[in-house]
Amino acid sequence: MNSNGSTQTQELKRMSANGNRVPPGPKGLPLVGVSFNLLQDPLELMRRVTREYGDIVRIPVILQSRILLNHPDYIQQLLLFQQSRFHKSTLTKETTERLLGQGLLISEGDFWRRQRRLAQPAFHRHRINEYAPTMLDCAEMKARDWRDGDTRNMAEEMMELTLEAAVRTLFGTTLPGEAQQVGRAMTFLMRYSLRRARAPLRIPAGWPTPKNRRATKEFGFLDSLVYRIIEERKAQGNGNRHSDLLSMLMGAMDEDGTQMTPRQLRDETMTLFLAGHETTALTLSWTWYLLSQNPAAEARLHEELRGVLGERAPGVADLERLPYLNAVISEVLRMYPPAYIMARTSIAPSSFGGYDFPVGSTMMVSQWVMHRDARYYDDPDSFRPERWLDGLAGRLPAGAYFPFGDGPRRCIGQGFALLESALVIGALAQRFRFELVPGTVVAPEPLVTLRPKNGIRMTIHAR
Ligand code: HEM
Repeated sequence: MNSNGSTQTQELKRMSANGNRVPPGPKGLPLVGVSFNLLQDPLELMRRVTREYGDIVRIPVILQSRILLNHPDYIQQLLLFQQSRFHKSTLTKETTERLLGQGLLISEGDFWRRQRRLAQPAFHRHRINEYAPTMLDCAEMKARDWRDGDTRNMAEEMMELTLEAAVRTLFGTTLPGEAQQVGRAMTFLMRYSLRRARAPLRIPAGWPTPKNRRATKEFGFLDSLVYRIIEERKAQGNGNRHSDLLSMLMGAMDEDGTQMTPRQLRDETMTLFLAGHETTALTLSWTWYLLSQNPAAEARLHEELRGVLGERAPGVADLERLPYLNAVISEVLRMYPPAYIMARTSIAPSSFGGYDFPVGSTMMVSQWVMHRDARYYDDPDSFRPERWLDGLAGRLPAGAYFPFGDGPRRCIGQGFALLESALVIGALAQRFRFELVPGTVVAPEPLVTLRPKNGIRMTIHAR
C-alpha cells in the first residue's frame, strides 16, 4: 500500500462490499483523517461526531477507520449478543500487553475463560466484604494525616489511598516505602504505553532513549516485586492461610487439577493491581470535586451520613441504608466514568444498524458519550445524584449506563470498587469537607482512564 489515501479507499470498498453502505462520519484531513483532533481532544470529538452523524459513526484515523456505536442497543449487541464475534481491540492490547501480559483484561478465548473461572471465587460478595476493615483502615490513615486547613492534591491523595488498599488486599501485607514507588512506576508506564500506542511513528522499545530506559527499569521493578511476593507465599506453604487475592489465585484449581503458573499469577496480579486501584481512585477524586461544586448535594450527603451513622464509621451493613451515598457514586460514574471508552476488533463479520462490517473492523463504545446523552439523562451535564433515587436505573434501556462494561467481559472488580468507594466516601465525608482551591481549573484528561489533568487541589476542612 503506497499511500494512506488508497488504503482508506480500499477499506471503504471492503466495508461496502456486502451492504453497499458505510456509516456517515467526518472526513478529516486526506491522509490522517481526524487523528490530530483525536489526539488533542477525543472527548469533545466523540460527542461532536455523534451529535452530527448519529448513533453509528465512521471516524477516519491513520490508515483505517473506527466505528463509534452510540445507541444502547448497539452497545448491548457489541458487548453481549454479538460478543463472540469480537476480541478486545488491538489498540487495547498494544497499549497494555507489556504491562499486563495475558491477564484477564486482555486475554481471549478459552485461556481467558479458564482464568476468569479461576479468579471469580475471589470476588464473591462475602469474600469482598472481608476487605472492608482494610479499606476503612486505609481511609483512616489518610484522615490521621490531614490537618484542618491543609491543601492537598486530592487526586494524588486518593491514588495513595487506593494503592495502599490494593497492595494490602492483593498481597495481604504492606510494602513499607514500596507502595508509592509502585504507584510512580505504574503511572509512568501507563503514560508511556499510551503515548506509544497513539503515536503515528513508533521508536522501537529496545532503543535506549531515556523514556525506553526508564520503562525497562520500571517493568523490571514491578515484575521482581510480584515474583518476590509469590515466592514468599510459596515458602510460607499451605499451613499459612491467607485471605488476600494473590493467595486465593495461587490456591485456585481448575477441574483438571491444574493451577496458575507464576507467569500467569504475575499477569493477573498486575492486572488486578492496575485495574483496581487507579479506577477506584479516580471515582473518589471526581467525587470530591463534584461535591465541592454542588453544595446542596454535599449537604444532603453529610445529613444522610449523620442521620444513619452518627459518629461511627460506616460498615458493610450500613450501606443499604445510605441511598444518597450510593446515588452520589452512580452519578460520579455517569459523569466521569474512569473507563470512558472501550474498543473491540471483529474476528468475524458483523452488522449494526443495517451496516455490514468485515473481519478486522474496530468498534468503539464510549461511556463518556453515552452517559451524557440527553435522550436518556435530563440535563446530562449537571451533577444530580437525585436522579438515581426514583428508579432511574430500572427505567434506563440496557446499554445506556455501563461504567463497568457489560456481558461476559464485565468488570470482575465491580463489587470491590463499589464497596471501597462507599466506605471511603462515607468515612471521609463524615469528618471532612473539601473545597477546591480558588482558580484551580479541573479538566478530564483521557489517558487509559479518565484522569483529572493537573490533579485536583483542594483545601481540607474538618467538620
Ligand atoms: C470504579 C472502578 C472500576 C471501573 C470503572 C472499572 C471498569 C471496568 C470496565 C469498563 C471493564 C470492562 C472492559 C472491557 O470490557 O473492555 C473492566 C474490566 C475489568 N476490571 Fe474493572 N473497573 C473498576 C474497578 C476494578 C477493580 C477494583 C478491579 C479488581 C480488583 C477490576 C478488575 C477488572 C478486571 C480484571 C477486568 C477484566 C475482566 C475480564 O475481561 O474478564 N476493576 N473494568
